[in-house]
Amino acid sequence: MPVLTRQCSLDRRPWPQRALSIATRPLTRYLSAQAAHPHGLGGPLIGRLWVKETAKTNDAALELLAPRPGEDILEIGFGPGRTLGLLVERGARVTGVDVSEEMVRLAGRRNSEPVRTGVLTLHRGDGVTLPLDDDSQDAVFAVHNLYFWSKPEATIAEIARVLRPGGRVLMVFRGREHPLPNRLDPEVYADVTTDQCIAWLASAGLEGQCHHPDGAPSEVSFVLASAHREAFATPDSTHAGQV
Ligand SMILES: C[S@@+](CC[C@H](N)C(=O)[O-])C[C@H]1O[C@@H](n2cnc3c(N)ncnc32)[C@H](O)[C@@H]1O
Repeated sequence: MPVLTRQCSLDRRPWPQRALSIATRPLTRYLSAQAAHPHGLGGPLIGRLWVKETAKTNDAALELLAPRPGEDILEIGFGPGRTLGLLVERGARVTGVDVSEEMVRLAGRRNSEPVRTGVLTLHRGDGVTLPLDDDSQDAVFAVHNLYFWSKPEATIAEIARVLRPGGRVLMVFRGREHPLPNRLDPEVYADVTTDQCIAWLASAGLEGQCHHPDGAPSEVSFVLASAHREAFATPDSTHAGQV
């Protein structure tokens, strides 16, 4: 006779903490929904807050991705578009895809000159299909995004399709091996662990490793992948390790 076990989901925190989290639940839900799909009046306001809030993580991502002049690079879920501008400054030709019309507008305003000259192209899309040719990108990356994708395996297969041989993929996200902070809604942030991300990449023929860049938040995973081993050369400041 099999023994059935059930996980108890009782909240055992002291009552003031529980009461506070119940009282703030609508705000938590609103902010998480805005993170997944910024919209309405609040969208651009929250988008502007991310410029500072996610700067450290995005700077670490940029160092790990190590863009070179003349490379074609795609960012999925660019939000306010700060990192798109930094890629352009480093001489890359950049494409951005984001599901939010407000973010396409905000990032377009922030980067109006590269958009005008055609160095930066922005698309509205959800990543299930990508508006790019096969073998057209040297690198593809996404920061704080994976949990919001409706079909992550389809998007990762699309990323593999558009990557040139030897191209790099970088996924940066809060791995669910770490507890989700109370301010983020688990019904919006899908439960994706670092191992799960590495497995999805592997099923698209991409070999991923988890990195821990110096100074980056410890609960954030940086999974760098490539179809080819030699693309794993990374700056000295990072310590690579298989998860
Ligand atoms: C939390 S914000 C992060 C923005 C930026 N990457 C950063 O680190 O500051 C998530 C962004 O991903 C976008 N997004 C969510 N799901 C997406 C999808 N399926 N495809 C493309 N963009 C998506 C949202 O519109 C939002 O701009």
